[in-house]
Amino acid sequence: MQNTKSDKVSFNKLNLIGTELAYIEQAIDGGHLLGGGTFANACEEWLRSNLGAKHAFLTHSCTAALEISAILSSVGPGDEVIMPSYTFVSTANAFVLRGATPVFVDVGNGDLNIDADLIAAAITPRTKAIVPVHYAGVACEMNRILETAEGANLIVIEDAAQAIGTVLNDDHLGTIGHMGCFSFHQTKNVVCGEGGALILNDERLHARANIIREKGTDRQNFLSGTVNKYTWVDVGSSYMPSELIAAFLYGQLKNSKSTNRTRRNKVRVYEILMEPLFSRGLLRPPGVNLSKEGNGHMMYCFAESQAIRDRLIKHLETKNIQAAFHYVPLHSSPAGLRYGRVGSNMAVTDWAGACQFRLPLYANIEEAEQIRVVEAITSFFK
Ligand SMILES: Cc1ncc(COP(=O)(O)O)c(C=O)c1O
Repeated sequence: MQNTKSDKVSFNKLNLIGTELAYIEQAIDGGHLLGGGTFANACEEWLRSNLGAKHAFLTHSCTAALEISAILSSVGPGDEVIMPSYTFVSTANAFVLRGATPVFVDVGNGDLNIDADLIAAAITPRTKAIVPVHYAGVACEMNRILETAEGANLIVIEDAAQAIGTVLNDDHLGTIGHMGCFSFHQTKNVVCGEGGALILNDERLHARANIIREKGTDRQNFLSGTVNKYTWVDVGSSYMPSELIAAFLYGQLKNSKSTNRTRRNKVRVYEILMEPLFSRGLLRPPGVNLSKEGNGHMMYCFAESQAIRDRLIKHLETKNIQAAFHYVPLHSSPAGLRYGRVGSNMAVTDWAGACQFRLPLYANIEEAEQIRVVEAITSFFK
């Protein structure tokens, strides 16, 4: 049967909670749509009280949160920042914008998170920070990373873009390092189109973060009445989301536990459906149990080679199913070659960049759609 547009299985689909329009209407009725409004404050309060974060700053993206964290780290030309190459560009770009050099370290072949064993050897006298990325919402080895960082007096900034809601030893990811950055981009579990948050664990960074997020001005002091006019006091940029975005986000945050639970269940369905393909050795499963250890952000696995992976994604396209690879490793990208350097061998990163692919996943994906996806993958191997 010819597939029609309507039976397309998209890689990602917007998950509406049902509060969005009412809250946006409330925001409009409030008459103020700029940043720092009632809904923005409510979102920040939610992040503090539900994640156990000391300070939370809503931003217009995780990229913005990473950029603020880079400014707060006071890194500059000549400084080095250790991070995985197997990550999204913003992890590196935020520090390159300050003139610092990303030093790329390989990931482990179990969870595709930065390999804690390789970090110490990548540290030089110029190293200022480590940026672990919690890939697929699965925790990096934070205890070991913090220990290494403490020994070398380094700042730890968690790129928790994909990791809202994952808990490691009673602590939420994103609240464990000195700083943490979340994404609420449409492709994430909790969404508002484009949005993010910066979490601060260090009291001393709080005042400066307020200034950086407000275009380098002390406007927050002016609003709270501690100065009678505001002025340019530091570097900064426009990092606030509008109240419309915060209104959309608030209901999403309040419902996030349920969203994550639903998504983890969908991942579990894939794990069961894919088992015959894994046990026949046609595809390699993830090295971690994503439905248990992750937040339901992603379901991925590995083909035997890049050629097979790419042909499989094309095959799925012909069946109206969208699968996606992840990532073109940063160390071999044109900008990565120009602005960064490698700090270890990159065997796992190169392998994962070539062979990994992600299956369609969203909170409201139906089991019938998941069955169709796995049947289409199975038909590729026949
Ligand atoms: C690991 C990681 N870091 C940073 C980002 C950037 O997030 P945003 O799109 O909110 O700027 C993403 C987004 O995909 C990501 O996956």
